[in-house]
Order: sequence, then structure tokens, then C-alpha cells
Amino acid sequence: MGYRHFDTAKIYGSEPAVGNALMEAISDRRVEREDLFVTSKLWGSDHHDPVSGLKQTLRNLSMEYLDLYLVHWPVTLKPWARFAVPNEDEFEKLDLESTWAGMQKCLELAVNQVEMHPMWRQAKLREVCGDHKIHVSAYSPLGGPGNSWGSTAVIDHPTIQSIAKERKATPPQEKMRGSVVPRSESNANKGEGEGGLFELHRKAEGGGSHSLSMFIDSPLMPA
Ligand SMILES: NC(=O)c1ccc[n+]([C@@H]2O[C@H](COP(=O)([O-])OP(=O)(O)OC[C@H]3O[C@@H](n4cnc5c(N)ncnc54)[C@H](OP(=O)(O)O)[C@@H]3O)[C@@H](O)[C@H]2O)c1
Repeated sequence: MGYRHFDTAKIYGSEPAVGNALMEAISDRRVEREDLFVTSKLWGSDHHDPVSGLKQTLRNLSMEYLDLYLVHWPVTLKPWARFAVPNEDEFEKLDLESTWAGMQKCLELAVNQVEMHPMWRQAKLREVCGDHKIHVSAYSPLGGPGNSWGSTAVIDHPTIQSIAKERKATPPQEKMRGSVVPRSESNANKGEGEGGLFELHRKAEGGGSHSLSMFIDSPLMPA
């Protein structure tokens, strides 16, 4: 579909499938590894040893390196905890400094990925990250419709609807510029995301930029 950024995680269980698909595309010379941006995440059960967690992820993906490795949740779990919703007796006291030190052995610290969209603009966090030159990446940029924590509040928002109508785009296309990690399982939506992104970049180059930051910083959106 033309996607280049893959956002996976050990706990999603998708690393082997993502790795197989990407390795096949690389060996068929449809894409070069350096043209991809692959993200994965340290699960709570690997906080004791982030380097081992990273090595396991690389084995799962059959890759030699990641472009970005995130601390999935600020939650430490017993090393044998295996499920996305852990049992109560699997939690341990969080020692973020030691997790941080372990992550520093893996790679340079650079990105903070948080839920961010026009309904949750993360103004204070973006200011702090900006002061420390930390890039902020948005997950659930469409507001996570269909997820237990998400809703259609973003794609149904009247301001986004009206801008989309004016630009002859769909609300998700209007949203998908900037550092966002949208997810889609349906081919129609994937195609829309891709076409939308290229089309919106093209339009932006022509002067009419409507980036994520424009929505997030817009006085028209709720604080
Ligand atoms: N770090 C973390 O803790 C964390 C947490 C949550 C998510 N994430 C990352 O962020 C990614 C995206 O977040 P998310 O899945 O929560 O939310 P999202 O991207 O805001 O929303 C995904 C939903 O939007 C729908 N969608 C996608 N494109 C669409 C379009 N063009 N028109 C209409 N609907 C569309 C998808 O439906 P279809 O599948 O039917 O297209 C899916 O139900 C995840 O895959 C994950 O990598 C990270």
C-alpha cells in the first residue's frame, strides 16, 4: 500500500508477521530497509532488562535494528507476565530510573508517543518536550474509534467535518498529516490514508497546509 512507518509491539503479538512481510518486500527489492521506519515497544515484563527485550523483538522481526523503541507503558510487571491486561499479582513497583537507564543502553532517547488528537491536545507535555528537544508522536490520532478507550469524537467533530468538506477530503485524511500513527485493517481506509497523505502533502507544498499541529493548536478546537 506504500506505507513506510510500521508501529508494532511485543505485546501486540504482531512482530513476527510484520517482520516476515517486510523481509519479503526487502528480499524482493520492493523496498530498502533504510526507507522503512520500524517502531516497537518494551513491554512491562522486560523493564528489568530492556536490552534483552530489544534483542527478543529484533529476533521476532528478523531485523538487525529498530528505528524507534518505546517504553510501551510506564508499568513494571513480573518477568513472566504475558498478557496485555495483567493480573493484579503480576505488577511490581515502577522504578522508572532503572528502566530509563536500561533504555539508554538500547538507543538515544528522542521520542515520546502519546495519545494526541484535536480532542486531547497535550499542550503542557508538548511544551515540556519542546524544551528538551523530544519529538512528540501521536497515537490514536483519529481518536481510536472502535477501541475501548476511543470514540468517533474526532472524525465526527463539526470543525473537522467542515474543513474536510471544504478541502474535498474525508475527516481522517484531514487529520493524517504530521507525526501520526493511524491504524487501519480495512483496505479501503488504508488506501484512503495513503492517497490522502500524499494528496495532502502535495496540497501543503502548494501553500495550503492543514497539518496535525494546525488542528491541535486551532482555537476552534476544544481546550
Ligand atoms: N503506545 C501506546 O500505548 C499505543 C496505544 C494505542 C495505540 N498505539 C499505536 O497507535 C496506532 C493507532 O492507534 P489506534 O488504533 O488506537 O487509533 P486510530 O488510528 O486513531 O483509529 C483506528 C481506527 O480508525 C479507523 N480508521 C482508520 N482509517 C480510517 C479512515 N480513513 N476512515 C475512517 N476510519 C478509519 C480504523 O478502522 P479500520 O481498521 O476499519 O480501517 C480503526 O478502527 C496503533 O496501531 C498503535 O500502533 C500505541
